[in-house]
Amino acid sequence: MKADVLLGLQWGDEGKGKIVDVLTPNYGVIARFQGGPNAGHTLEFNGIKHVLHTIPSGIFREDTLNVIGNGVVIDPRVLKRELLALDDLNVDYSKSLLVSKKAHLILPTHCMLDAASEASKGKKKIGSTLRGIGPTYMDKTGRNGIRVGDLVMPNFDERYNALREKHLNMLSGYAFDVSELEEQEKLWFAGVDKLKELELIDSEHFIHEKMNAGSAILAEGAQGSLLDIDFGSYPFVTSSNTICAGACTGLGIAPNQIGEVFGIFKAYCTRVGSGPFPTELFDKDGEILAKAGNEFGATTGRPRRCGWLDLPALKYACMINGVTKLIMMKADVLSYVDKVRVCVAYEYKGKTLDYLPYEILDDDIKPIYENLSPWTDDLTGMREYNELPETLKSYVEYIEEKVGIPITIVSVGPDRTQTLRK
Ligand code: GDP
Ligand code: IMO
Ligand code: MG
Repeated sequence: MKADVLLGLQWGDEGKGKIVDVLTPNYGVIARFQGGPNAGHTLEFNGIKHVLHTIPSGIFREDTLNVIGNGVVIDPRVLKRELLALDDLNVDYSKSLLVSKKAHLILPTHCMLDAASEASKGKKKIGSTLRGIGPTYMDKTGRNGIRVGDLVMPNFDERYNALREKHLNMLSGYAFDVSELEEQEKLWFAGVDKLKELELIDSEHFIHEKMNAGSAILAEGAQGSLLDIDFGSYPFVTSSNTICAGACTGLGIAPNQIGEVFGIFKAYCTRVGSGPFPTELFDKDGEILAKAGNEFGATTGRPRRCGWLDLPALKYACMINGVTKLIMMKADVLSYVDKVRVCVAYEYKGKTLDYLPYEILDDDIKPIYENLSPWTDDLTGMREYNELPETLKSYVEYIEEKVGIPITIVSVGPDRTQTLRK
């Protein structure tokens, strides 16, 4: 049995959490493969709204195993908060949540380094979530990191103190105030105790055993393809490979064992944090999308920038991911605007481009739009694809034709039930 992958095709927050939850009954294992608590994946069902950061979005469905893979970075403080929130909802994860021993740990000092680095960049800051992601992946690739499996090693304290010391030296270079460190470390070690209660596994072996036994696996991406460390709008990206290949390195799945690649996109675009965004709207339409779409970050609460759908960027994301099926989210939000536009190319330094240029300076890039027919119907009560207005169906067909990949699901609201299969 091959493993399917579900990932975001834009700048994150496409609705991955919702769709993973919807698809989970088809799978035996849901596995996160990269990112960490910079992610915020929202699920809504039975009147409950829940945001997950580190834990895979299959956790609410019984009979499904959830794996935090080796490519993920874990902050025990955040994980503990997530687990306590599940306890409040009486979700039993004791046997259904498994953690790779090879996943790296985010230390309190990693978060401080993230904040210090951002502050030092001034106006050029990345707009990081300040969850310590960049510094932790830097220590991973620099071969200084501490992994989950190290927690039970006899020399753990020594290793922790050595890394802490190294970080404190760096922080003093930034003249960063570390007075909160002791308090944060208390929380961190309390989180470590909770993490140690979970089953710590060799997740690559586990995943392969499950695949060989015929269990269906779904790899859940975090962030989005345009935030990928290699292919995103560098340097305004996250520090991991968010694309399909990340599922191979982040779980130990071989490339020829990938089955379907579900690519999720919003019917428009959003971005939180700094960086280029060619179709960003600064007018009334942008405000309407932000309000109707409730576009505030699920992790940081920051307002998300909004704009029209960007087809060259979407096609690029499909290309590097090998997307086999598209899933379109938040179609209901476009009901609030009186026009629907799609960027089909860019005008850049006197040339027309149908791809994202190497360096994008917002002032130089002008999107070329096509206008499509809008719809104003309230879609949120619709439960069958055929109920959708003809103009929306034309929008779906237009995108399918331009991208050359079928759209198999259209989402019309945050709830599980607001999911229309085509
Ligand atoms: P993720 O990071 O990709 O899982 O997405 P987020 O959870 O950060 O952001 C998606 C937001 O949109 C959440 O608040 C969801 O509840 C909400 N959402 C998901 N699908 C839809 C939809 O089809 N329509 C509307 N209006 N909201 C949606
Ligand atoms: P989900 O999984 C949206 C953005 C940050 C910032 C950049 C780098 O919920 O889609 P980082 O903290 O990773 O160093 O920040 O990436 N970012 C996200 N934007 N959704 C996310 O995750 C994001 N995770 C990181 O805003 O611009
Ligand atoms: Mg999110």
